[in-house]
Amino acid sequence: MSKLIIDGGRKMEGEIDVQGSKNAVLPILAAAILSDGKNIIYNCPRLRDVEMTIEVLKNLGCRVKWEDNCLEVDSSDISVYTIPDELMRQMRSSIIFLGAIISKFGKAEVSMPGGCEIGNRPIDLHLKALRQLGVEITESHGFIYCKADKTEPANIHLDFPSVGATENTMLAACMIEGITIIENAAREPEIVDLQNFLNRMGAKIRGAGSDTISIEGVHKLYGVEYTIIPDRIVAATYLACAAASDGTVILKNTDSTHMGAMINTLKDMGCRLYTEKTKVILQPAKILKSVDTIKTMPYPGFPTDIQSPFMALATQCRGTSVFVENIFENRFQHIEELVRMGADIKTDGRVAVVIGKSKLTGAKVMAKELRGGAALVVAALAAEGTTEIENVKYIDRGYQSIEKTLASCGIDIKRKE
Ligand code: UD1
Repeated sequence: MSKLIIDGGRKMEGEIDVQGSKNAVLPILAAAILSDGKNIIYNCPRLRDVEMTIEVLKNLGCRVKWEDNCLEVDSSDISVYTIPDELMRQMRSSIIFLGAIISKFGKAEVSMPGGCEIGNRPIDLHLKALRQLGVEITESHGFIYCKADKTEPANIHLDFPSVGATENTMLAACMIEGITIIENAAREPEIVDLQNFLNRMGAKIRGAGSDTISIEGVHKLYGVEYTIIPDRIVAATYLACAAASDGTVILKNTDSTHMGAMINTLKDMGCRLYTEKTKVILQPAKILKSVDTIKTMPYPGFPTDIQSPFMALATQCRGTSVFVENIFENRFQHIEELVRMGADIKTDGRVAVVIGKSKLTGAKVMAKELRGGAALVVAALAAEGTTEIENVKYIDRGYQSIEKTLASCGIDIKRKE
């Protein structure tokens, strides 16, 4: 099993080309099955989650080829409308294929995704929306069976602006004749990216980025070339790394317009940030200050995905910071590892209180999920001595070669297999 070994105390200094967005590429790869031909997707991050999605595509009958960070997906011979249990279990977000498979075949069979490291993660909103589109759904023996013989457009109001349910509904509705409306849709930039990709293929979707999306069904979609947006969570993680190490970083190929809540929080902590559309520069704070309360919210609020890396940074801020996790119930698992390193953090349910500044010391710690693992990297940069982070497989789900990126900015970090 791989581990990361980090010697703390070095300032991060350098430039980083931000990778393509994981959460944008996964639904776009699912959408790629809707065309009859080839899609060429640029700026694809090389990640474990993308490799697992490619396994799903191959299982459906697609031919998939990498060339550097460009992925070619040929769905001309696709013939399978099921996703087996072992693939669903490896990656819960494979549920995003459900809407696409229904659009393509008029039927689908996928195994029920279980919970995951960060919580229960039900899919009731996905299924409710699909049923409103006329999809007949039976759940039995751990499988979901869908039949879409009599689909029709619908006005769908999501009870919560779920990212996955919004994407699944867009994928299921884009080829249903008539106009489907999604109200209380998720507004994340990754939803806009999915709309842009589908529209390039020939779909007629408007409104992504707002809370109302309108989808006019079309008969056919075509293979296209497309470039994935930069990963805003990875970008903000590297900003947190720079801030925690008292260093300076220049992020290139990023999109600062997607990072408002995160950039504002770093400014509140005292970091100096300079932004252009595709570039962000962070210079260190004279003194890092605590922030009042950070509440995770759907976009454009503060993202749940960056809560743990910013909590690691908050251990280095002078004063008390409060974090409220509103999206996932089990997203505080990094805290006991941070406490091992010397952090002073108390929790009560979904609230964590961080008292800083703590002197962190290197320790053996364990990543228990993707972003919590990234939080341990942030803490290790600020810590005195050597930190060993086990279970790097979680970090590899979302960060492309994190050790190479940080080493190129002067951090003493190695991977040991
Ligand atoms: C996506 C992101 C994930 C991010 C999350 C919230 C991908 C691959 N993953 O996950 O990184 O942390 O958005 O920004 O894009 N819920 C229900 N019923 C449902 C669906 C969701 O109750 O049918 C609840 C979830 O349990 C959670 C909340 O809604 O509490 C948000 O989930 P959702 O927005 O759907 O997240 P994902 O799409 O799973």
